[in-house]
Order: sequence, then C-alpha cells, then structure tokens
Amino acid sequence: MESTLILLKPDAVEANLVGKVLSRIEADGMRIKQLKMFSLTEEEAATFYAEHQDKEFYDGLVEFMLSGPIVAAVIEGLNAISRMRKLMGATDPREAAPGTIRGEYGTGTPKNIIHGSDSPESARREIPFFFEQEAKLNE
Ligand code: RTP
Ligand code: MG
Repeated sequence: MESTLILLKPDAVEANLVGKVLSRIEADGMRIKQLKMFSLTEEEAATFYAEHQDKEFYDGLVEFMLSGPIVAAVIEGLNAISRMRKLMGATDPREAAPGTIRGEYGTGTPKNIIHGSDSPESARREIPFFFEQEAKLNE
C-alpha cells in the first residue's frame, strides 16, 4: 500500500468538480484516507511550490493557488502515486490524454484541476505538510 497527496485546485472547486474527481479516484479502487477543504496562505503556497520558484510560471501558479479554496486529500492504494499521476494525465490539459482528469476537466496551465505527489519522496514531504495525523493512521 502507498499513500499520495492530492490537491483539488481552486478551478476544481469553482467548477463544482470536487465530487466528480473524488468519485473517479474511488472508482479506480483507491481510498480517501484524509480529506479537508481550506484556503492556502501565501506562506504555505510559497513553501509547497518552492521547487518551482525560479520558473517563469511560478508567480501565476501561486496567484492561482491563492485564488480560492482547495481540497487536500491523502489517497491510499497499491502504487497510488503512479496510479494517481496516470489518472491525472499530463500537466498541460491540452496534452493530457482523453479520459484523464486533466484531459476531461482542465482548461490550461496553471488551471489543471489537480495536483498529485510525483514520487515517494514528494509524498513523504507533502502528506505531513497538510495532515498531521497521517503518521498515526499508518501505524
Ligand atoms: P502538480 O505538481 O500540480 O501535480 O503538477 P505537475 O507535477 O504535473 O507539474 P509541475 O511541473 O510540478 O508544475 C506544477 C504546476 O504548475 C503549473 N504549471 N504551469 N508551463 C506552464 O505554464 C506551467 N507548467 C506548470 C501547473 O498548474 C502545474 O500543475
Ligand atoms: Mg509537480
């Protein structure tokens, strides 16, 4: 079993897609272990996206992520990290395969509906960034 962190970005919440996206994850056989809706602070957004701070899309990305509430979830399943990335589709929805979450619902970058941890190292960093109880749940 593996756990991964997903974020339903402000465009997903704005377009009433929270239920649809979570339902696709459940239909794929993965389990929602933790779930919450909140708004990122500027500091949280900067820390979460620190790896991108030198990229040209950074300012637009942070501004977008602060534009409305998001939903964070810990998703558990066999190979959940790679499975979620496959279900999400390519970063740019215009290049994402039909049937993927970004391919179906995304409108561009940064408005691509969903974030998912990209490696076990990222998941180990990102899950406790949002969910303090995860260590306990995995005992
Ligand atoms: P994420 O972190 O959200 O799961 O997405 P990702 O791994 O597929 O993409 P990443 O390279 O980590 O980029 C983070 C987010 O920044 C926005 N982005 N815009 N060229 C662009 O304009 C561009 N590239 C990336 C997207 O919202 C992407 O999800
Ligand atoms: Mg990423």
